[in-house]
Amino acid sequence: MPTDLTNQYTSAEIIFNERRIKNLSNWLLKQCGVNDYTVSILLVDDTKICQLNNQYRQKNQPTNVLSFPFAEGADHSLLSLPVRELGDIVISVDTAFQESIEYGQGFHDRIAWLLIHGLLHLLGYDHEKSTKQAQNMSEKENELINKLHFHRRTMMTKLAINVDHVATIREARGINEPDPVAAAAICEFAGASGIVVHLREDRRHMQDRDIYLLRQTVKTKLNLEMGANKEIIKIALDLKPDIVTLVPENRQELTTEGGLDVISQKKKIAKVIDKMEKRGIPVSIFSDPDPKQLKAASEVGATFVELHTGRYCEAESEEALEHEFQLIATSAEEAYQLGLRVFAGHGLDYQNTAPIAALDMIEELSIGHAIISRAVFTGLDQAVREMAAIINQASLSL
Ligand code: PXP
Repeated sequence: MPTDLTNQYTSAEIIFNERRIKNLSNWLLKQCGVNDYTVSILLVDDTKICQLNNQYRQKNQPTNVLSFPFAEGADHSLLSLPVRELGDIVISVDTAFQESIEYGQGFHDRIAWLLIHGLLHLLGYDHEKSTKQAQNMSEKENELINKLHFHRRTMMTKLAINVDHVATIREARGINEPDPVAAAAICEFAGASGIVVHLREDRRHMQDRDIYLLRQTVKTKLNLEMGANKEIIKIALDLKPDIVTLVPENRQELTTEGGLDVISQKKKIAKVIDKMEKRGIPVSIFSDPDPKQLKAASEVGATFVELHTGRYCEAESEEALEHEFQLIATSAEEAYQLGLRVFAGHGLDYQNTAPIAALDMIEELSIGHAIISRAVFTGLDQAVREMAAIINQASLSL
């Protein structure tokens, strides 16, 4: 990773997301064309930055950001650096927080500004040298801020809701309520961007009647999850959903247990995708965050992959959680680089969704159980709105 972030800020008073700062820095390096260089970011408090400011700039006061280029004058001579290191950016979390209040900015927005400022100094920009240089630096800062805002706005993560769980309740009684078709309409009214249904071979929850009615009523996007079996393929071709998601299907499982193994059945999957594409139905593959499977998904012609977040959601320790999160983050980037569009889902809930929603490459999250569970207590409309708010906030913040 090009950004090496060290957090020496120990006070628990200001909560911030280290991962987001790191992602932001990596994104900035890319925008500046220096993503094959590393940069070190150090987050400190006012006391520490005051000490550094005094030591290196003879100013005995705190400041917001300090930059230490690996080599002075690196602006014209990055290529001549002995190692691919830009240098260090030190940010005072205390001052950034005070400034965010002063300027009415979000804290992470303020950090973004300070990072941009610090990075441009490492790249040789210096507003203190002359008016012309100050103007150059300010223009570049604005350009990067605008790019960043545009980038975030266009990548607002969507929420697609899986309503199988409503059908599960209905089937438990064997009568006709609650109706997943009505549930889908409420989800859409409350802000869902899509409806997901899994028509299983054993019809344990969704029935053929449901999906045909949903085809007529869903106003956003109907995503049909399915195993690659003959009968269901025929139904999908007839139904013409907006997207088909291919999943492994095992009769004994309580829910989809893992990603589809495309590698072991490339020919078969390629054939199904071909049939769907000919009917104008783009295909998504439910995939473990595994580079080999993602490569296979792109080779068989999938348009989307849905990254399986199950292991991330079930992680039992901080280390495991971080490990699974990183797998998803790097897989999302890899899938994007392979030309795939990226979704994610399975097991996401009100506590664990925000970090996934903040990942730039992920366009949409598919969530079911957590929302339907909460709806039992709060009503479906409220449950959808609460999840949509979490996703919107995470994906819009920097
Ligand atoms: N994505 C896929 C492929 C699934 O099979 C499911 C579960 O039906 C989900 C997402 C949604 O998972 P959950 O119900 O745990 O939110």
